[in-house]
Amino acid sequence: KVLVDSRSGGPKVNPDIRKGEAKVVDTVDIEDIGKKGVFCRCWRSAKFPYCDGSHNKFNDCAGDNTGPLIITKKDE
Ligand code: FES
Repeated sequence: KVLVDSRSGGPKVNPDIRKGEAKVVDTVDIEDIGKKGVFCRCWRSAKFPYCDGSHNKFNDCAGDNTGPLIITKKDE
């Protein structure tokens, strides 16, 4: 595994989401998710923190395999 010191201008995981914030943190109330929540892990979604399918284009361009975190709620 190769670690890159981003202070030297190396690649970043987050290309442009809310760069004015010191740390991008999102809180989602589990009661608001409903039966299924789909969350972005590629950092390319226009609806971040939710997935909008942008990972497909990113994977095609970068030769990567990123995908969302899907949270489902079991029927009670
Ligand atoms: Fe980022 Fe789907 S858009 S994981």
